[in-house]
This record gives sequence, structure tokens and C-alpha cells, in this order.
Amino acid sequence: MNFNAKYEETKKYFEEKLYSLIDNLSISDETLKTAMAYSVKAGGKRFRPVLMIETAKMLEVNIEDIMPFALAIELIHTYSLIHDDLPCMDNDDFRRGKPTSHKVFGEALAVLAGDALLNLAYETMLRGIGGIYKVNASRLLSRFAGYQGMIGGQATDVLSEGKALDEETLNYIHQNKTGKLITAAVLVASCVSGDKYINELRTYGENIGLLFQITDDILDALSTSNELGKTVGKDEKAKKLTFVTLYGIEKSKQMAQDCLNNAINAISDVDDNEFLIELAKYILDRKS
Ligand code: IPE
Ligand code: IPE
Ligand code: MG
Ligand code: MG
Ligand code: MG
Repeated sequence: MNFNAKYEETKKYFEEKLYSLIDNLSISDETLKTAMAYSVKAGGKRFRPVLMIETAKMLEVNIEDIMPFALAIELIHTYSLIHDDLPCMDNDDFRRGKPTSHKVFGEALAVLAGDALLNLAYETMLRGIGGIYKVNASRLLSRFAGYQGMIGGQATDVLSEGKALDEETLNYIHQNKTGKLITAAVLVASCVSGDKYINELRTYGENIGLLFQITDDILDALSTSNELGKTVGKDEKAKKLTFVTLYGIEKSKQMAQDCLNNAINAISDVDDNEFLIELAKYILDRKS
């Protein structure tokens, strides 16, 4: 299997659907429409939808059945980035290689564009909903994106700035602000399939989710803005609680490797697991 080619193919397929969704929205306010499209089309790895679509294929779920959820998870992720960059949160000027939404459109429109993308996510996910499997998948995504998931982690992240470093809080932040949405990507696919391999996929998702944020912390410390498409060195400056600030680079790299091993072990008996195994390895080695 050529992993890179497969990733790019799925990403391209997904982006065509995403852009067509955004381009066909009827929004009377031109600035709001432009702001929504600006962040959605700025690029990004599309990691969560690719993970969800490939997990669904592995579980023999129809692509049409998973696509509304794949669109929804990327819309939720994009809104979370717009809000994460706001002056009242991480105060970042640069995202996906471009000026952040509030830099271009002002804070009020950035908040509203984020809100609109979040609502569009639910509208899209609920399109054509039917059957208990998809209802369960919708509930799971809603929960994992909310106060028991991404938003819960973001709140503790912001409230922990400048506070004493503590392992338990750090794990909570990473497992929630980043881990939950990534875990949701594989669990939604499992729910739609009627819970195939749900336990194996939960452990896999939790480990690659944590791995993803450990590498994000490492890249913030070691990469360049050019390569990353976002500002670097900002965690240390903001006195954020991260793997790098708590454990240092070398131990963080070791912990990332442990997460990778746990993820691979969790799905070792799952049929057709090749892409998911390669995807986990890609997170450890990613440069952006
Ligand atoms: C960045 O996510 C925010 C985190 C949760 C670490 P990504 O690294 O997936 O960002 P994009 O979507 O590729 O821009
Ligand atoms: C953000 O974590 C996670 C989100 C839920 C958006 P970070 O604040 O570390 O993400 P970056 O580094 O700005 O992309
Ligand atoms: Mg943040
Ligand atoms: Mg940030
Ligand atoms: Mg970061």
C-alpha cells in the first residue's frame, strides 16, 4: 500500500465535497460567507475526516453514510481553531499558512464565523439521519466535541496558563482538547457500522489522539513557522502546560513512541488495519 498516495486521494475526495458544501451555502451577509470560506479553504491536513473515512472503509461502511459525519468533524475542528486563535485564547496571528480569522475580519466576525461553522456541522451531520446507529454516532460526536471533550480540554488549557506544572491536569487537557475529537473520528465510523471493533478502536483513538498533541507540543518547540503554517514557540511564551514544558523534548519523544506502540497493539487483530497503522506512524514523524 502506498500510504501517502492513499491519504492524498482521500483528502482530495473529501475536500471536493467540503468546498462544494461551502460554495453552495446561501448566506446573505457577504462578509460572514467570506469569513467562513476563508478558514475552511485555508488548507490543513484534513486528518480527522481522512481518519474517519478510512476507518469506515475498513469496517465496510458505505462512503455516503459516513460523509456527513466527516464533513461535520472537519467543520467542528475548523471552528475550534478560529476560536483557539482569538486574542482572548491563544492570541495567534497565523494559521494554516495565513493570517488568522480575527486578523482579517476582526474579532466579532471571527467569533461568528466559528459559531456558524459549528452550527453548519450539526446541520450537515443530521442531514439524512436515520436509524439507531447514526443517532448513536451523532450523540457521540456531539459529546466528544463538547464539555466532556474538546471544549472541556480547551477550558482547562486556558485556565492552566502560568500555573504549576502537574501531570494529571496535563493528561486531562491533552486527552480532551485534542484526543476526544480524534477518538470520535474512529468511534463514529464504528457506531455507523453497528459498533464493529469498538473497544479496539477506542484504545487506538485515545493513543493516537494523545500522540497527536504530544507531537503538536514538540513541533511548537522545534519547528519553524514556515514549515508549520502557524506561529512557533508560543507555548513557552504563554506558559502553557504542555508535554515539552513538563517533561522536556527527549522524554516527550519517548512518550510519543509509547503511544504509537499502544495504538498499533490495540488494532493488531483488526482486519484490514494497514492504513490505520501507517497513519499512526505518520503522526509520530509528521513535520506539520
Ligand atoms: C491543530 O490541529 C490543533 C490541534 C488540535 C493540535 P491540526 O494539526 O490537525 O491542524 P490542521 O487542521 O492541519 O490545520
Ligand atoms: C488546540 O491546541 C486544540 C484545539 C482544540 C484547537 P493548541 O492551542 O496547541 O493548537 P495550536 O498549536 O494552536 O494549533
Ligand atoms: Mg490552544
Ligand atoms: Mg493554539
Ligand atoms: Mg499547539
